[in-house]
Amino acid sequence: MSELNNIALKIIGAGKGILAADESNGTMTKRLNSVNVESNSQNRLLFRETLFNSDSMKDCIGGVILYDETINQSSSSGKKIPELISDSNSVPGIKVDTGAKTLANSPEEKITEGLDGLRERLKDYYKLGARFAKWRGVYTISEKYPSKLSIYSNAHALARYSALVQESGMVPIVEPELLMDGNHNSEDCLQKTSEVIKKCYEQLELHKVELKGTILKPNMILPGSHSDEKIDTSKIAEMTIKCLEESVPSEVPGIAFLSGGQSEREATKNLNQINLKNKTNFIMTFSYGRALQQSALKFWSKDLKNIKGTQEVFNHRAKMCNLASKGKWSEEVDKI
Ligand code: 13P
Repeated sequence: MSELNNIALKIIGAGKGILAADESNGTMTKRLNSVNVESNSQNRLLFRETLFNSDSMKDCIGGVILYDETINQSSSSGKKIPELISDSNSVPGIKVDTGAKTLANSPEEKITEGLDGLRERLKDYYKLGARFAKWRGVYTISEKYPSKLSIYSNAHALARYSALVQESGMVPIVEPELLMDGNHNSEDCLQKTSEVIKKCYEQLELHKVELKGTILKPNMILPGSHSDEKIDTSKIAEMTIKCLEESVPSEVPGIAFLSGGQSEREATKNLNQINLKNKTNFIMTFSYGRALQQSALKFWSKDLKNIKGTQEVFNHRAKMCNLASKGKWSEEVDKI
């Protein structure tokens, strides 16, 4: 088990965090189309290997979450993608859920699928070099949601997935994401996120998952994107820490937040504030998709051959997240 704890610490220790580059082909197509780039496997690979070849990989990115298509690809230099990532001393990871589908008997909510055949798929991913995995449960916040059914069934799936991932020698990332969509306030987000996370750990413990060999990937505590509430970064940090202190068992080595639709700057600023206020023993870092890639993608879309320029944009964002994970970020250093 200490082996799994070592992997977890290699991914999120020393101010490092995770690059979530595991967008499914459908999501990646939306991202590429939004900047007028054609979505084909060549372009998806080119953008991603540009990031994986960046200088910031060594010091700032402890792990990269890949999608099935990418983990099976080779870079233009002929190197397998997981090898390219390991060569920068970063850990290759893999998204293993097969997406969120309509939850039977609660059709406005979702349940994440992908448990059938998972043990066999994990063996293949391990052989390809993956040492951690990701599964995302997704929940909506409103007066009646998330329902008990959604909270229970997603926690159960996350626990079954985590047990299988550890059995295969990898670290599970446990991701219960309460979406920012809606007009709920931050207090609602706090209450509901706590309830969801507590249920996840109840199930993880029932399934005998060794918590030292896991990483939690939660949302920060924020008002809904259509709420009128005004909240500053200091309050966001306090509420986020309160929620995690109350609901995460102390054996969990660390927490790597998702960005969930926050801008790059907001996600960095909030993480920085969390680390300035963090008195817990949990490592608090990032596992960002959009908040690490947005500017780089926009820059790259203007000239797909400008690899160096794209890497500079990505290096800056990765460095800012690295500083934020140590509470050393400021508006000043983020000026470009
Ligand atoms: P965002 O940071 O863009 O929310 O993506 C993180 C992620 O992996 C969601 O599952």
